[in-house]
Amino acid sequence: MDSVSEYYSATQLRAERWSELRQASNTLCRETAAKKLDSAKKKVTELFESLALIEPYWAFPGMAAFDHMRRQFENGNHDDLAFTVTRVTRALTTGAYRRRTIPLDRDSVDDEEQNDEAMQSPEARAMMRPYFEVLIVDQVSDQQERWLKSNVSRMRRHEDPFHYEAVVVPSLEDALIAVLFNHNIQAIVVRPGLVLKSKNANEILNKYLNTAGGSNAIDVMQPEDYGPELCRLIQRVRPELDAYLVTERSVEDIAGLDLGICRRVFYNQEDFMELHLNILRGVAARNKTPFFTALVEYSKQPTGVFHAMPISRGKSITRSHWIQDMGAFYGPNIFLAETSATSGGLDSLLDPHGPIKEAQELASRAFGSKQTFFATNGTSTCNKIVVQALVRPGDIVLVDRDCHKSHHYGMVLAGAEVVYLDSYPLNEYSMYGAVPLKEIKHALLKLKAAGKLDRVRMLLLTNCTFDGLVYNVDRVMEECLAIKPDLVFLWDEAWFAFARFSPTYRQRTGMRTANNLRKRLRTDAHKAAYDAQQKELADADDETRINTRLIAPPEARVRVYATQSTHKTLTSLRQGSMIHVNDQDFKGEVEQSFHEAYMTHTSTSPNYQIIASLDVGRRQVELEGFEFVQRQIEAAMSMRRAISTHPTLQKYFRILTAGDMIPEEYRQSGVSSYYDDEQGWTDMWDCWEQDDFVLDPSRVTLAVGGTGWDGDTFKTQILMDKYGIQINKTSRNTVLFMTNIGTTRSSVAYLIEVLVEIANELDELLDDASKMERRAFDKRVQNLTENYPPLPDFSRFHDAFRPDDVTPEGDIRTAYYLSYEETNCDYMELDGSLKDALEAGQEVVSAGFIIPYPPGFPILVPGQVISSEILAFMRALDVNEIHGYRADLGLRVFTPEALASLPPAKKLKLRAK
Ligand SMILES: Cc1ncc(COP(=O)(O)O)c(C=O)c1O
Repeated sequence: MDSVSEYYSATQLRAERWSELRQASNTLCRETAAKKLDSAKKKVTELFESLALIEPYWAFPGMAAFDHMRRQFENGNHDDLAFTVTRVTRALTTGAYRRRTIPLDRDSVDDEEQNDEAMQSPEARAMMRPYFEVLIVDQVSDQQERWLKSNVSRMRRHEDPFHYEAVVVPSLEDALIAVLFNHNIQAIVVRPGLVLKSKNANEILNKYLNTAGGSNAIDVMQPEDYGPELCRLIQRVRPELDAYLVTERSVEDIAGLDLGICRRVFYNQEDFMELHLNILRGVAARNKTPFFTALVEYSKQPTGVFHAMPISRGKSITRSHWIQDMGAFYGPNIFLAETSATSGGLDSLLDPHGPIKEAQELASRAFGSKQTFFATNGTSTCNKIVVQALVRPGDIVLVDRDCHKSHHYGMVLAGAEVVYLDSYPLNEYSMYGAVPLKEIKHALLKLKAAGKLDRVRMLLLTNCTFDGLVYNVDRVMEECLAIKPDLVFLWDEAWFAFARFSPTYRQRTGMRTANNLRKRLRTDAHKAAYDAQQKELADADDETRINTRLIAPPEARVRVYATQSTHKTLTSLRQGSMIHVNDQDFKGEVEQSFHEAYMTHTSTSPNYQIIASLDVGRRQVELEGFEFVQRQIEAAMSMRRAISTHPTLQKYFRILTAGDMIPEEYRQSGVSSYYDDEQGWTDMWDCWEQDDFVLDPSRVTLAVGGTGWDGDTFKTQILMDKYGIQINKTSRNTVLFMTNIGTTRSSVAYLIEVLVEIANELDELLDDASKMERRAFDKRVQNLTENYPPLPDFSRFHDAFRPDDVTPEGDIRTAYYLSYEETNCDYMELDGSLKDALEAGQEVVSAGFIIPYPPGFPILVPGQVISSEILAFMRALDVNEIHGYRADLGLRVFTPEALASLPPAKKLKLRAK
């Protein structure tokens, strides 16, 4: 049997084991040849052993049924066994066990099976009571377990909004394994009888224990602490769950403890009805969608419309002779829910007091922020809101140069003095990585030395990057705060909303880290470590500080903002985004300016459907985000593995690993690939805990240079036109496949089929190729894989836009507006006048943003000096799209006279400060 390390997750392992057991038990029924029968028996025995480690953590089929199947096998009742296993496997695959009781006895007729199929329509499924599982942690005998479960099921009432089954495990370790492994669990009841250790520990289960924070930490605990500690540990891995602690300890004793996700403490062990009602209430609190529900209710009310919105109630469509097809396509509900009303149960996004306010509060809980704001026009707008709210004209902002264009425009609007930070280049693949921490510290220390630290306001980074590079958020924030203790951080998490719902990813999100930092900075241990480091570094120079892991002062302010395109990675209509705030000074200092910035950028007619979808998207992640993200990663991992091990694909394609995309010095764990042919899966937790950068494996970059096509041709002419596969990011020789919570394993299988077909066609083509054709192909490949233009760094702002030449910040706003006057600008041809000017040593300054696509970020911004490296890069770029560049005219630059009209000194005086 395959080793467990062959499987990325235990859920995948479980599904495959059941399906193998079904095949093997069917073989037992059919097979007559003794040898084959023996081998099938051996297989069934092994499968039972393997499943015996997994099944105790799931309610269905339950250990009683599982043991029954084992006895059927031991007693040679192969037909019965095959029957039962088939039914279990089918119920697991279709999820039927969530909807009804599955009879496993061979004599029983599954009356509802037909119905169940019919119940698959979306309307019917929407009417069903959702199902979940409750984990009870207590060491009990079989008889006591039956008693516990029967008490739980006796509490069920017809009017309950959900139904659930119980799973009982004996120990703290088992409980951790269960919550990490069984995504159906929504609530945990911790009873006083729990013990510490699991009897079940094996390779894959250990992997889960590591994720929960390692088993070492809990080894030294007293038994009475197991319950509270379990509640705390679960909070680290699945903070959305509810725990109920049943205890015999005194109220006073419990009152002073940190109980993590515990919602209520019970002193009476046997009050099952109270427990039942609490469990339902806890899940209902997550299931609640105040704005979506309000909108549904509103759309049911009869109303006369006398405001400006003809589409409201579909009136302008139903009466139309020409646009009926729109009504037919969308159906009536969307128009019944289209309104500009802000009362009658609805609310105003610009001044929320009702269901929108509540929906935002629930989102804040779900994403771990202190305040959350919805936006109906994308993260582009969220970024501008945050920058405007926090940055005053003249404030210095450190920003990664390859960030999304909304930030550059945000800087222009805010009048920031920008310090562009360079990401490390990945020349081989024509893409940038991320900004090394040393680069950020270097910039901050330089500003400090120049006496400008008080003007430094914000550090703005993209996490994760389009290509999936993820920062060590904790380390970056702590070390920056050590230099500038009130620095504001804006993490552009446009691509990272889902990260909150996986324990591995969560530790690298802005909100989680902000919450951890707030706690950590207050501890005595932190203060002691800080004091010690201060003594050590008393006379240290900048070089030493850059090379030392700096500790933030205990009084540092934690000021963190994260912007997320909910619509990119979670369920939301397009443009649905959120701003999450975790800023200790928000209320005192920012609230008013934030409000103004929000008003500046938010439409007075925000789209209700988008707001409702954000509300529902939040419900989803609080109840099944963990499951969906896990499945997404599973799908991505199986894609990585299938492509990197397929012999035909290896000839033309290569999946880029963490080792390819992150230089060794930033991978302290030493891990270069999450999958290895010999060792199987690496435990990602280690790298994610310590490395400077990690790779989000759900974004799969495929090097396609070996096919002789560049990334853009491969995307449009091969994947899109020939196979209908859509992707949106390419580089010169790579394409990026993104998985998301909607990616299925069949879509992954289809992609792999397509790649194999492409590879086979290339094989055939090359087989028949003439010598010349072969040479041309090799040349194309060589050109794409070896002759790459080096990516240029940010050169510098021209002196006219800099206050001095000591530090690099530049006034992008002045440059931007200088170009509004046509007489200030001129055009230069790349291969003509511009080349000549640079060769003659002239300083040429860009008047606008130049954004080649790919890579999709500005290689020139207004006011930036054009270096010969940038010119060389532009000339070598073989892309069709360069935003801001006019092929007929050339590159727009400032005239020397325009630059001369802006002496730095004059400009400085004009500055607001
Ligand atoms: C890093 C980053 N930030 C912000 C945005 C803008 O997000 P939205 O499309 O939601 O406006 C994008 C869009 O691709 C992005 O890649």
